[in-house]
Amino acid sequence: MQLSVKHLLGIRDLIPQDIQTILDTATQFKEVLQRPIKKVPSLRDVTIVNLFFENSTRTRISFELAEKRLSADTVNFSASASSVAKGETLLDTVNNILSMKVDMVVMRHSASGAPHFLAQHIPAAIINAGDGINEHPTQALLDAFSIREKLGNIAGKKIAIIGDIMHSRVALSNIYLLKKMGAEVMVAGPPTLIPKYMKEAFDVRVEYNLRNALEWCDVANVLRIQLERQNQVLFSSLREYNLAYGINKKLLDSLSKEIIIMHPGPINRGVELDSDAADSKQSIILQQVENGLAVRMAVLYLLSGGREMNN
Ligand code: NCD
Repeated sequence: MQLSVKHLLGIRDLIPQDIQTILDTATQFKEVLQRPIKKVPSLRDVTIVNLFFENSTRTRISFELAEKRLSADTVNFSASASSVAKGETLLDTVNNILSMKVDMVVMRHSASGAPHFLAQHIPAAIINAGDGINEHPTQALLDAFSIREKLGNIAGKKIAIIGDIMHSRVALSNIYLLKKMGAEVMVAGPPTLIPKYMKEAFDVRVEYNLRNALEWCDVANVLRIQLERQNQVLFSSLREYNLAYGINKKLLDSLSKEIIIMHPGPINRGVELDSDAADSKQSIILQQVENGLAVRMAVLYLLSGGREMNN
């Protein structure tokens, strides 16, 4: 099994068959993860460096654990504890790390396009773990895996992506993936957080009313308000955002059918999602995290050349 790409920079570059291959491989790894011994030797002798220039909890832990389960040798780098703080350039940092013979690089960076830049300059396989407001491909893949697991299929399903569409790399990667796999996609939220070009550029529905969005969809993928990326006032207050766009159990119960709630984390409880909805039985947020491990194992395995999987 092979992907059509050497790096995973974004869902934009993938063909539907790549997505299918990654999801099917992840299904096999999820099965491995249920076994008493969860470790396989697939990436023995492969060295991976995790370069995190931006904060992360679950994505970083998920990649590290995926690498360990595949028996890779790993090195972890975080910008705050490195020479980046002394003014070193990105290319210098990475060239130094590569002199140590690294095969793959997992990278998160606040600058959109940073992993694409690296891919042009170094021979290792690059996996984008989130670049600025551009893409977060493994998040979209684990979201798709979770939808497929829950609903059996992605094609024909109605997915509403709700909240801060403008600043969210999760939104963009999800839109590319869901459209490629034949889902119906809606973006919903306040007009100030939805770029004007969404409908024309991505062929998605746009909805400004939360209840209409929830009534329409099978799955609501709720996004965090990216306060750290907003340099102007785009809504009046968090409390007002919660009143107009916050999802709670009462609202879910008042809908004509039971929908599925997803969120990439970290949740701003009481802003985009209230605890009674986040922790309800309609929420698959923790399954998403669990599935993230299998999906990242699949991506690492396939980009390393797909060697023996089960022995
Ligand atoms: C997302 C991210 O970092 O882009 N989180 C994640 O990876 N689980 C979403 C977010 O920060 O809101």
